[in-house]
Amino acid sequence: MGKAQQDKIDSNLQVHEDKPIGYQLVVDDFYRRLSQVCNHGPEKAVHKHRERGKLLARERIDILVDPGTPFLELSTFAAYDQYDNSFPSAGIVTGLGVVKGRECMIVANDATVKGGTYIKETIRKHVRAQEIALKNKLPCIYLVDSGGIFLPQQANVFPDRFDFGRVFFNQAKLSAEGIPQMAIVMGSCTAGGAYVPAMCDETIIVKGQGTIFIGGPPLVKAATGEEVSAEELGGGDVHTSISGVADHLAEDDANAIKICRSIVDKLPMASKQDIEIKKALAPGFPAENIYSYLATDLKKPIPVHKIIDHLVDDSDFQEFKGSYGKTLITGFARLKGMPIGIVGNQSFLTAEAARKGAHFIQLCNQRQIPLLFLQNITGFIVGKKYEHEGIARDGAKLINAVANSVVPKITLVIGGSFGAGNYAMAGRAYDPDFLFMWPHSRIAVMGGEQASGVLQTIGKNGSEDSLVEQFEHESTAYYSSSRLWDDGIIDPAETRDILALAFTVTLNQPKRNPHYGVFRM
Ligand code: COA
Repeated sequence: MGKAQQDKIDSNLQVHEDKPIGYQLVVDDFYRRLSQVCNHGPEKAVHKHRERGKLLARERIDILVDPGTPFLELSTFAAYDQYDNSFPSAGIVTGLGVVKGRECMIVANDATVKGGTYIKETIRKHVRAQEIALKNKLPCIYLVDSGGIFLPQQANVFPDRFDFGRVFFNQAKLSAEGIPQMAIVMGSCTAGGAYVPAMCDETIIVKGQGTIFIGGPPLVKAATGEEVSAEELGGGDVHTSISGVADHLAEDDANAIKICRSIVDKLPMASKQDIEIKKALAPGFPAENIYSYLATDLKKPIPVHKIIDHLVDDSDFQEFKGSYGKTLITGFARLKGMPIGIVGNQSFLTAEAARKGAHFIQLCNQRQIPLLFLQNITGFIVGKKYEHEGIARDGAKLINAVANSVVPKITLVIGGSFGAGNYAMAGRAYDPDFLFMWPHSRIAVMGGEQASGVLQTIGKNGSEDSLVEQFEHESTAYYSSSRLWDDGIIDPAETRDILALAFTVTLNQPKRNPHYGVFRM
C-alpha cells in the first residue's frame, strides 16, 4: 500500500482501538476493510514484485503526485467480496492527483493481483476513470503493468460495448479532444494491453522491466516456432530504439515517474471556470462531530441541517424556501470558498418538496452554481390523496430538472437511497460528476421488509426471511462499491476535503447553458 494511504489507515485504526462507541464502530469497520483491500495481492506476489525492483501501484502513485497533495482514490472497494476476494480493488488503482500543479487522472495496474489482469470490475474502473477525465479535461497517466484480460473471465470482459476494447476507444477519443494521454510501461503489456501504451500520445518504458507485445514469447513459439525472450521481443531497448512504439527509456520506476512529471510540467495549462472563489473558512464544528448525527438504523432520521453545518464554510447556509416543502432542504453555501447549491433530504419527497427542488435546480443553473445532493431518501410519498394531487407529475418535474441540469453535480449518499428517490436526487443514472457513499448507507429499489410485504400482497409467498436477508445483503455500501455503482465509500469526517477536491476538478468543465424538456404543469 502507498505511504499516504497507510498513514491514513493507521491513524484512524489507532485512535479508537480502546472502546469504540456508536458510529465509531462503523468507521472502525470501514478502515479495517479498507486496510484489507489496500494491501495489494498475496504476500508471495508482493514479495516477487519487490524482488524485481518494482514499486507497488500505490507507492508509484505516491511519488508521481506532488509532495503534500492528496490523492483521491476512486472505487477502492471494487470487486470486494467477489471472486473469493482474490481481486482487491479489482487489481487497479484509479484516482485524481496533482502532478506539477496540474490535476490528472491516474490509472495504475496492480501486478500483484493476478498479474494485473482485467476482470469486469477492473474494466469498469478503468473506463469510469476515463469518463471522468473526458468530462473534466484531465490529462491521463497510465502506470501499466498488466497481463491483459483475465482469461477465465473472457466472456464477461471481451466483446461487449463497454468491455476491454472501450479502454482504447476512449484513449483515441480523449486524445482527439486534446486531453493528453501518457503511459509509463512498468511491467507487462500483452495482447490487447499493448494498446494502452501504443494508443498514448507519449510513452515511457522502464529498461529491463517493461515489455510491450501483441503476442508474448509462448504464443510466438506456438504460432511460428520462433524462440525469443520477452526483452528481445518487446523490451525497453527494442521499443525506444528499433520499433519506436515507446518514446522514453527509463532506468527504473522512480526515473520513469520523474520523466513523466517533467512531461506534465511542459503541457500547456488549461483554463478553468472563472467563478468567484472566496477565502475558505472552516466550519464551526470539528469534522468528527458529524458522527454523532449518524445512526446505523436508517429508520432514525439524519438531521440534514446539522450535516450541512459540518461541511460548509463557517457553517453558513443560506436556506431557500425554508418553510415550504420541508422534507427537502435547499440552499446556498460555500465549500472551501467555492459557491455550491445544496439539495438534501429530510424525509420522503412530497409534491411541494419536488416543486421546490426543481425550482432550486433551475436557480443554480441560471447562476452557474455547482450542486451537491445529500441523499437520504425512501422515495416519493404514497397514498390515494397524493396520487390524486399528482405526486407523479411533480416528481417528474424534479427528475426533469435533475436530468437536464448542466452545472457540475456531486451526489453523496448519507443514508438510504431507495426507489425513485434515487433518481430524483441525482443517482448514478443521472450522471453526477461523482457519487460517493458513507459506510453505513444503503441503496436498493426498496427496503427488504417493504419488498417482502409487496411480494406477499401479490401472492408470491417465498421465504420472507430470506428475501429480507437478500435485500439487506445487496443494499450495503460495500455491495454497491464492489460493483462500481458509485465512485467510492468515504469517511464522513473526511467528506468536506473530498468534496472540495472533487468540485475543484469539475471547474475544468466548460460552462454550458441549461436547456430543459417539457415540465408537466
Ligand atoms: N489470465 C488469467 N490469469 C493470469 C493471466 C491471464 N491473462 N496472466 C497472469 N495470470 C495469473 C497467473 O496464473 C497467476 O495466478 P496465481 O497467482 O493464481 O498463480 C498470477 O496471474 C500471476 O502470474 P505470474 O505469471 O505468476 O506472474 P508474473 O509476474 O511472473 O507474470 C505476466 C505476469 C502477466 C507477465 C504473465 O503472467 C503473463 O504473461 N500472462 C499472460 C499474458 C497474456 O498472454 N495475456 C493475454 C490476454 S489479453
